[in-house]
This record gives sequence, structure tokens and C-alpha cells, in this order.
Amino acid sequence: MSQAALDILKREHRAISAVLFCLKHTVDEARRGAIVPPFAMIHAVLDYLTSFPNRFHHPKEDTYLFPAVLERAPDLQPVIAELLAQHEEGEERVSDLKDRVAELQTLWDGRWQGDGAAKFEEFADAVSRYVEFERAHGRKEGVEVMPRAQEVLTEEDWAPIEAAFSANDDPIFGDEPRSRFDGLYSEIVALAPAPMGYAEREKPAKAPAPEAASPLERGARQKLLTLNWI
Ligand SMILES: [Fe+2]
Ligand SMILES: [Fe+2]
Repeated sequence: MSQAALDILKREHRAISAVLFCLKHTVDEARRGAIVPPFAMIHAVLDYLTSFPNRFHHPKEDTYLFPAVLERAPDLQPVIAELLAQHEEGEERVSDLKDRVAELQTLWDGRWQGDGAAKFEEFADAVSRYVEFERAHGRKEGVEVMPRAQEVLTEEDWAPIEAAFSANDDPIFGDEPRSRFDGLYSEIVALAPAPMGYAEREKPAKAPAPEAASPLERGARQKLLTLNWI
């Protein structure tokens, strides 16, 4: 019945979700030519997505929550097998995005060179697919695993999980302190073009006429700031 461990996982889901929102929003803006490609921010986001979920969030699920739930609810085996496979697939997708960005940077010189514009379109599509993939993953955990964990795990089952989750220097979480992730998060907010973050909006040479910020855009930075601090 422990809520504390699940609350930690849910907060981490919100942090990941907000970074994904920032990535998709800014890449979509660059796709429609409203801003230049925000390469520095994209690198910071991909760095965050490489390190935070893989080294800090997934180990909590893979090593503690999932095995404990499987002991009490073996019928969840297919669901958990799928979630574990998705953790690996997510790493591969981020790695693919990093490769694409490295190539795209060689094709940008104030404007797209060669087939850069077409390749950025493909990158933006890959970002959209990845963001939807991670959102579906988080939803599956939130709907199919967390409620069952709350239902079937005993106080004795939760004790070692909570002890591990609250020990930020636990060896399974690697040697990167939590402060590194907070720092990376701040960097993303600083590098994301307004209104999502605090960086200036750099328009391409022949940018379309500026559009009035929609209510959604005006609220975007606030959403990022409020959702993400963990
Ligand atoms: Fe997961
Ligand atoms: Fe998760």
C-alpha cells in the first residue's frame, strides 16, 4: 500500500514527460520554420534522456518494482516483459536520434544545405514517434502495473523498495548524483527557445511572419517548470 515509492516514480514520469514535451514542441517549431533548429537544446535533451531514465529511473523499475510485483502477481509477466523490452528500445531510439542530429548539424549553415531540410523532416517524425512511444510506455506502467503494485505488495515487500528509492547514492543508480539531473534540466530550460524556455527565439533568414503566441504556447514554459522539478 506504500504510496511513497509510487509517488517517486510518478514524479520521475512527469519530469521525463515534460522534457519530451519540450523536445517535441521546439522541434515542431523548427520544422515549420518559426525558429532555427535548436541544436544545443536538442543535445541537452538527448543527454538528459540518455542519463536520467536509463541510469536513474529504469533501475528502480527493473531491479525493485517489477520483480516484487511479479512475485505477487505472476499474471503480469507478459506486461512486464514488454515494459523491460521497451526500456531497451527507448535507449536505441535515443541513440538513433543522436546520430541523426550529428548528421543534421553538418547540413546546417544558417540554412539547410543539400538534403538537410528533408532530413530534418525525417528527424522531426522520428522525435514524434519516440515521444509517443515513451508516453505509451509511461501510461502502461501507470495503468497496468502501479495500481496492481499498490494492491498486491505488502509492507514487507515495500520496505526494501522504499529504502532503495530514498538512497540516491545507491550503487545501482550509478555515480551521478541527483544534482546532475537537476543541472541538466536547468540547462534545457535555459537553452529552449521562448516561450518554452528562456533562450531567445532565433528566426531563420526568411522566417514566416511572426505569429501571436497561443494560450498553449504562453502556458508552455510554466508547464515545463511546474512539471519537471523532482
Ligand atoms: Fe519504464
Ligand atoms: Fe517508468
